[in-house]
Amino acid sequence: MECKYFGECGSCKLYDLSYTQQIEQKKEYIKELFSDFLIDDFEFFASNEEHYRNRAEFRIWHDGDEISYGMHKLKGKGVLKIDECPKVDEQIYALMPKLKKFLQNSDELREKLYGIEFLSSKNGMLVTLIYHKQIGQDWKKEARKIEEKFGIFVIGRAKKIKEVLSQDFVLESLQVEDKNYTYKIIEGGFSQPNRVTNEKMISWVSSHVKNTKDLLELYCGHGNFTIPLSGKFKKVLATEISKTSIKSAHFNCELNNIKNIKFLRMSVEELTSAMNKEREFNRLKEIDLDSFNFSHVLIDPPRAGIDAKSLEFINQFENIIYISCNPKTLKRDIDILNSDFKIVDFALFDQFVHTNHIESGVILKK
Ligand SMILES: C[S@@+](CC[C@H](N)C(=O)[O-])C[C@H]1O[C@@H](n2cnc3c(N)ncnc32)[C@H](O)[C@@H]1O
Repeated sequence: MECKYFGECGSCKLYDLSYTQQIEQKKEYIKELFSDFLIDDFEFFASNEEHYRNRAEFRIWHDGDEISYGMHKLKGKGVLKIDECPKVDEQIYALMPKLKKFLQNSDELREKLYGIEFLSSKNGMLVTLIYHKQIGQDWKKEARKIEEKFGIFVIGRAKKIKEVLSQDFVLESLQVEDKNYTYKIIEGGFSQPNRVTNEKMISWVSSHVKNTKDLLELYCGHGNFTIPLSGKFKKVLATEISKTSIKSAHFNCELNNIKNIKFLRMSVEELTSAMNKEREFNRLKEIDLDSFNFSHVLIDPPRAGIDAKSLEFINQFENIIYISCNPKTLKRDIDILNSDFKIVDFALFDQFVHTNHIESGVILKK
């Protein structure tokens, strides 16, 4: 990928390495970090080098009546004005200059516009305009023109305000091991940023799932893994803290006609204490936790990793699949599990080319 802002824009840090060198650097880092486990090689699932991000956020910089997209600078404070970003997918890339021009020409849409979020899918695009002012009927009237002109969905956000003009989601389709799945992705919930790498990641997990009974999934989001994996298990119990994501997850079961998943809107810590019979929850009234016979646990926590008590809890199961966006907390957690488990497979999935970010997948067996 070539970008005219390499060396200035804080988003890409590995701009002076070729993609092959970046892959080698990431592999070497992981080999060294996990050297105690004697992992000498692993699969590396590469990304498209450019136009790979289907989710992106930009600041809006104002110079009088002129606006520009902005990114934080690589060095020093302040915002770097940009007019394009080759990392975003083709749909976002094509829309960015046209949308800027449109916003530029409308006082109502431009004034106090602070940021823009793009969420694109194979089936459409949602744009969220974030303001440092109140927005109401006048704003809605102008914003509708964006929907009409560009055929996209628009949301306006301001303090305590969320104005949804038509819909607050996009429908995404993913291919996992020769099958297609449809997902509703609601604005504001977590979603994987790199569609192609995400498909590889779910397919890799799915290919490792054998001899199954029931699945326990922690940090399930909108069912990104849950939906395709459900076909391989008798029953699935999946938990997630975000209301928005769980709303999508329920919808995604219906969209894909899946009947064997129970989604819970609960933190992992709460579910662990319920499973350990330390606390009772109204939200679990309808669910007989003892009726599950889990052969596999899948976890995909945020950067902080899983809490110590929940890690101890999942230690009792035969198979653990750990997806991690932070190698350091992954290492911390695997060190604890290590005495009872062996690493069956380890893979890296590139979500963000030109950055130091590393996404790992580990299959652990008792
Ligand atoms: C890395 S994302 C993974 C989501 C999903 N597996 C996916 O692939 O889209 C982590 C998810 O964990 C959720 N989360 C964060 N802390 C949590 C907690 N303590 N208990 C349950 N879910 C949590 C977040 O809302 C987010 O959806």
